[in-house]
Amino acid sequence: MENRDLSRAADLLRSARRIAVLTGAGISAESGVPTFRGPHGLWRQFRAEDLATPEAFARDPKLVWEWYDWRRGIIAGVVPNPGHRTLAEWEARFPEFALITQNVDGLHAKAGSQNLIELHGNIWKMRCTKEDTVSDDFDSPLKKIPPFCPSCGALLRPHIVWFGESLDTTMISRAFAASSACEVMLVIGTSSVVYPAAALPIRAGESGAKIIEVNPDPTPLSSYADISIRGKAGDILPRLAECLDFGDR
Ligand code: APR
Repeated sequence: MENRDLSRAADLLRSARRIAVLTGAGISAESGVPTFRGPHGLWRQFRAEDLATPEAFARDPKLVWEWYDWRRGIIAGVVPNPGHRTLAEWEARFPEFALITQNVDGLHAKAGSQNLIELHGNIWKMRCTKEDTVSDDFDSPLKKIPPFCPSCGALLRPHIVWFGESLDTTMISRAFAASSACEVMLVIGTSSVVYPAAALPIRAGESGAKIIEVNPDPTPLSSYADISIRGKAGDILPRLAECLDFGDR
């Protein structure tokens, strides 16, 4: 089954020029970053409403920052895996290649991906709650919890989209544009339950694109996808690259 799906997926990709990819926490699982809803997932250990909402931050910014500092510590200690690296290599291989991620871990950029749409923000960025300016910060552990804005002294918050918050309009419109324009969309390592990200493959399908899902477990998208490959991203993507055999394209 898997080999036949791999070669069918390779056929679709080989004949396409415009590719869009949507990734979720699953692509970083093999690097050692916890997913959200899987076994030992973050939302099994912690209550999202205590840590990933504007209300939680208003109530206890120190607690929220301590949690993000813990997550930054995990991510600082890991590297991109063959799944991330394959997608970074493909960016140069397809005339149009857009990588849309729900992940805030920065591992796609670390793997070399450039045309990257970080829908939910980035854990290595902070935003001033007064001036709304965004700055990079790679300290792990954080020097000060909670951190304050060096220019105005106001509280800094993680530059991450929390539950109940809207996504950045530029990011989400770029993501929908790439979904409408692509001929093939790969959906990798997401449970496809969080919107608006989960609407992107539907938009792509409605615009005539073929949908290829890669996930060890079935998701609500599996029956909609043209091909749904059961496997881990770090294993399946390099094998798909072999099947594709770009040669000197
Ligand atoms: N390779 C591919 N997929 C995997 C792997 C792997 N090695 N390991 C797990 N998965 C799959 C799981 O089967 C699951 O379907 O990855 C998916 C991870 O799902 P979630 O934990 O729900 O993560 P995600 O879909 O990215 O969550 C979406 O929800 O909590 C919010 O903002 C947060 O961006 C996040 C959003």
